Amino acid sequence: MKEVKSKDSKLNLVLLGAPGAGKGTQARLLCDAINIQHISTGDIFRKHIAGNTELGIQVKEYLDNGLLVPDSVTIEIVKLRLSECKQGFVLDGFPRTVLQAQALDELVNIDSVINISVSIDKLASRLALRRVCHCGKTFTAPNLDVKSIQCVCGGKAVQREDDKQAIVKRISVYQSDTAPLIEFYQKQGKLFTVDGMQSIELVHQSLYSKLFG
Ligand code: AP5
Ligand code: MG
Repeated sequence: MKEVKSKDSKLNLVLLGAPGAGKGTQARLLCDAINIQHISTGDIFRKHIAGNTELGIQVKEYLDNGLLVPDSVTIEIVKLRLSECKQGFVLDGFPRTVLQAQALDELVNIDSVINISVSIDKLASRLALRRVCHCGKTFTAPNLDVKSIQCVCGGKAVQREDDKQAIVKRISVYQSDTAPLIEFYQKQGKLFTVDGMQSIELVHQSLYSKLFG
């Protein structure tokens, strides 16, 4: 992977893509490479669910069933998080509706939107094999029967609740509610697409060279 320090440390980016497209994977690589903050609304919600907070209790049903958390709740969470990111950020999983995208435009200037494109038939198999550790590291299990994978941090990577039962629903919600954002950002001239069917490293390299030439 390229190791580069941010030249313009205030780069504000959005990663778009279906569930399993590789948003989280690429966001982490990009943040390591250019030293910006990773904002994943899914991770924020899962942390609240694990901590059994008021917000966690409120959003659990939505996540477990692959439904979108209401825009009003999600926008407030992002607003709060953005106020902590003075050095640039990559948004992973937000916006997911046109209303969220319009709200984001009112909050902050977005420099570029990267659409990670993966064929629909590949998504379900990636998600079914994904195992995630509490430290954030993600693994691909060799087969569906593997319950957990030992993580380098000492923890155990296990299946996400919404990878057990809500894969089909999440993909269909993506197609109806989130895919229209491709055109939304194309019209703004901010969108570019990378081929997410390549290896993780090649996706990172394409994304990086489209951003920095
Ligand atoms: P969220 O956590 O954002 O889940 P998602 O959109 O379903 O996306 P995933 O995290 O499943 O996939 P990813 O694209 O990050 O893929 P990854 O890199 O892990 O949201 C969860 C829920 O929260 C939503 O359903 C909703 O309820 C709620 N929510 C969140 N944001 C919201 C919002 N804005 N509004 C309303 N509700 C919201 O990769 C997947 C697997 O593939 C991994 O195993 C990885 O190792 C592997 N992989 C990655 N890239 C490659 C590659 N190039 N080749 C081979 N394998 C690869
Ligand atoms: Mg993710």
